Amino acid sequence: MSAEDLKEYLATAVALAKEVGPAFKDGFWRTGQFSKVSDFAAEDKLGNKADCVTAVDRYIEKTIFDRLRQIYPTHKLVGEESTAESGNGCQVTDDPTWIVDPVDGTNNFVHHFPYTGISIGLAINKEPVVGVIYLPILDELYTASRGAGAFLNGEPLPLIRPPALTSPTALSQCALVSEHGSYRSQKTMSLRLRSLARLLTDKQDGGGCLQNLRITGGACPDLTLVAKGSAELYWECGPHVWDFAAGVVIVTESGGAVFDGAGWWGSDIPESERIPKPLNMWNRKIVAVRYIPDLPDKPGSGRELQKKLAKELLDLVDDFEYPPDGTQ
Ligand code: IPD
Repeated sequence: MSAEDLKEYLATAVALAKEVGPAFKDGFWRTGQFSKVSDFAAEDKLGNKADCVTAVDRYIEKTIFDRLRQIYPTHKLVGEESTAESGNGCQVTDDPTWIVDPVDGTNNFVHHFPYTGISIGLAINKEPVVGVIYLPILDELYTASRGAGAFLNGEPLPLIRPPALTSPTALSQCALVSEHGSYRSQKTMSLRLRSLARLLTDKQDGGGCLQNLRITGGACPDLTLVAKGSAELYWECGPHVWDFAAGVVIVTESGGAVFDGAGWWGSDIPESERIPKPLNMWNRKIVAVRYIPDLPDKPGSGRELQKKLAKELLDLVDDFEYPPDGTQ
C-alpha cells in the first residue's frame, strides 16, 4: 500500500462522509425519540432502550456501502447496522476492510445532543490506516491516514499545542472521557461504576484522584477530544470496532497512543508484567492517551508518560468480558 493509495482512500472516505452529511443533519432535527408516529423513530436494539437504531443509521450505512462496493468491489465491509443485525462476528483478514459506524452516539442523535457523527475507518493487513470522523452538527471533520498526520477541518492535530499542552505525569493531572455503554446488567454496571469510582477516589484511599471525568455519549467524539488535546485519556470496555477504528487512526496520527483496555484490578499479574499491551481493535477494550510533549532534556519521555498513564489507569480498573467483534 503506497502513500498514493492511502491518499486516495482518505479522499474517498471524506467524500462519502460529506455526501451523507445532509441526511445526517436532516434526521438530527426530526423527531428522534421512541415516537411511533415518526419515520425517524429510534428502534430499541437490546431490549433495554439503551441502544437504538434509526432509519438514518440504516440509510447512511447503505449509501456508504453501495458506493464502496462500486469503487472497490474486492474490499471487505464491516458496518454497525449490517454486521450487528446479521448477528455474525467478522472473519478478520488482511484484505482492505472498511469499518463504518453510520451514526456514532445514536443516543445523542435521538436526544438532539450534537456529540454524534459518522465514522469511516479502513484497515489493511489488520491495521487501521485511514480514519474519518465527521460530526456534522458541530461542523467538525477529522481526517487522518497512516504516516500523514491528523487534521480537524484541515488544521493539524493536536489543536492544543505546547506550551498550552503540558506533560501530565499522573492521573491526578488528567481528564478522562469514558462511556457507560449499553449493556446494563448489574454485573457490568457494578464493575464499570466501581472502576470509575477507584479512578476518581483520593490517592490516600487507594484511588487515582483523576482530575476530571466526562461522558459525551459516543466513542467517536471522545476520541476526537483526545486527538485535539482536550482530554488526556479515553478508556472504554464494550464499544465495537466500528465505534473506534477511525478514531484510532486520528488519535495515533495526532501523536497519541492506543493500548488494550483490559484492566488489572484484582488480578495476580506481577507488577513487572503490567505493561500496557498493543490494542487489538476487535476485542472491544481500549485506552487512548493524547499526545504528550517530551519533558525538557528528556527525549522520548512523552511516549513513556503515555504508557505510564495507561498503566496507572489499568491498575485501577476491572477487566470485562465481551464477545469479540472478530476472529482471526
Ligand atoms: C455507542 C458509543 C459508545 C458506547 C455505546 C455505543 P453507537 O455507539 O460509541 O462509546 O458506549 O455502547 O452504543 O451505538 O451510538 O454507534
